[in-house]
Amino acid sequence: MANCLRLTESHLLPIDQFVVPKHYSNDISSILIPPGLIQDRIEKLACDIVASLPNELSPTNPLVCLCILKGSQVFYSNLLKTLAKKIPIQFEFCKVKSYINDQSSGNVQISLTEDEILGMIDKNILVIEDIVDTGSTITKLIAHIKSFNPKTISVCSLLLKRTTKTNGFVPDFVGFSIPDLFVVGYGLDYNQVFRDLEPISVISEEGKMKYSA
Ligand code: PRP
Repeated sequence: MANCLRLTESHLLPIDQFVVPKHYSNDISSILIPPGLIQDRIEKLACDIVASLPNELSPTNPLVCLCILKGSQVFYSNLLKTLAKKIPIQFEFCKVKSYINDQSSGNVQISLTEDEILGMIDKNILVIEDIVDTGSTITKLIAHIKSFNPKTISVCSLLLKRTTKTNGFVPDFVGFSIPDLFVVGYGLDYNQVFRDLEPISVISEEGKMKYSA
């Protein structure tokens, strides 16, 4: 089990007690994690990550932080703002896609350029994800990166879903363990919609129907 904050359905918050953009007000049923709480967890995750790293890091041997686009972009930028006050960092980005509607297609498409691959050889890598759900994406990505011989590789995910569909993958660092609900916001999407919504929220049936692929 990951060392993280465990949220249950009893933590769901009513949307009428928050300012939700009008264009999304019928599309989400509740708020699970307001942005302030996410930021508080980010401060602690950054401390835990730094405490786990070797002392050898320097501007010419930085921690390579790999952002898994598109979902983790918001988490990545906020985590790195905090991490960069403590350690030197190399920014890297990789696009990975597998979801259609609320289901994993099982077909994980990874795009990394030759330069990005060369930049990982013999480096300390931290992969940064927004969510680990079935674990299929991260498992395939880690196997792919390991083939480039990094020095070390660890994974930080903002969310870890408790689902019977899991393949058992547990990230090294986790912000929140969440119940089996389809969540959007803070970079997470439903068919590319809701990434710009600030709090992590539960999509409503109306929202799913409206934006179905
Ligand atoms: C989402 C998310 C993770 C993955 C997790 O990506 O960002 O990468 O699904 O699901 P899994 O553990 O079941 O594999 P998605 O394919 O939706 O692409 P996106 O990041 O562009 O939204």
